[in-house]
Amino acid sequence: MANTIFITGTSSGLGRLMAIHFAKNGWNVAATMRTPEKETEFNAFPQIKIFKLDVTQVDTVTVAVDNAIAAFGTIDVIVNNAGIGMYGALELTNDADIEKQFAVNVKGVINVIRAFLPHLRANRAGKIINISSLMGISTALPLGSLYNMSKFALEGLTEGLTFELKPLNIDLHLVEPGGFGSAFGENITFSKSEEIKDYDLITGKVSTVLHAASGAGMKITAQPIVDEIYALASGKSKAFRTVVGKDAKMVVFLRKILPINAFLKILGKKFLS
Ligand SMILES: NC(=O)c1ccc[n+]([C@@H]2O[C@H](COP(=O)([O-])OP(=O)(O)OC[C@H]3O[C@@H](n4cnc5c(N)ncnc54)[C@H](OP(=O)(O)O)[C@@H]3O)[C@@H](O)[C@H]2O)c1
Repeated sequence: MANTIFITGTSSGLGRLMAIHFAKNGWNVAATMRTPEKETEFNAFPQIKIFKLDVTQVDTVTVAVDNAIAAFGTIDVIVNNAGIGMYGALELTNDADIEKQFAVNVKGVINVIRAFLPHLRANRAGKIINISSLMGISTALPLGSLYNMSKFALEGLTEGLTFELKPLNIDLHLVEPGGFGSAFGENITFSKSEEIKDYDLITGKVSTVLHAASGAGMKITAQPIVDEIYALASGKSKAFRTVVGKDAKMVVFLRKILPINAFLKILGKKFLS
């Protein structure tokens, strides 16, 4: 019988590529998204079933999880992929943006995991793969403190859960990609201010980097990340952490060999001078 994967955030980017890759490789896919009514491409894949899910709305999570279990019987792998980026100087952000960053990237993952635990416990089997980021390991781009916070929290959540879930034969994995092309850059909320000028220089530089790294300007595809997730889902890799991409590997290397102050100085030179 085919294995089944449940993925959040399949309307674009990594989630979308993942859903199609797993379907093409014979997996059943529970592809979840906020706006299924807009979806057309997945209809070509009989193995993909679409479920409406907003990770911040617990009722939609519960219904999607129950319906996916009813449709497929067993869910073997869950990928918490849905994520957003709130950028800008912290002083310029508002409470709603701070709460939204946490609600999607952290509480959203908790909502999905909690909804699945009765199923996974009953099966005494399952894998949970959380899509973190290079920014979950280290700061790598200024004005990303909220996004950093959310992905650091996701790392802590995932590490912390291993103690209680490992004895139940539920595996946890973190995937930590560097930058790749998706709708992520276009969807970023970037806080700016007409009144406070102190952050203008760094804001201009970071906006340029983010703009260049998004959409058609970004040549790095999500396929290597999908390949790593496939290796984890199919048991070929058992790694707890998987760093993907040259930029992510370079940052991890520099963080290993340099004291934090030296690392931050190098990074700062790129953006502050
Ligand atoms: N792109 C990068 O350079 C990069 C690097 C490292 C890590 N990541 C991580 O990779 C993951 C996928 O991002 P991506 O680059 O593929 O970006 P993306 O194309 O913007 O995809 C993000 C997905 O999350 C969904 N989403 C947003 N808010 C949601 C909510 N409240 N409930 C359910 N789904 C929601 C979006 O759906 P809607 O269409 O409904 O908004 C979209 O399907 C994220 O966790 C991101 O943090 C990205």
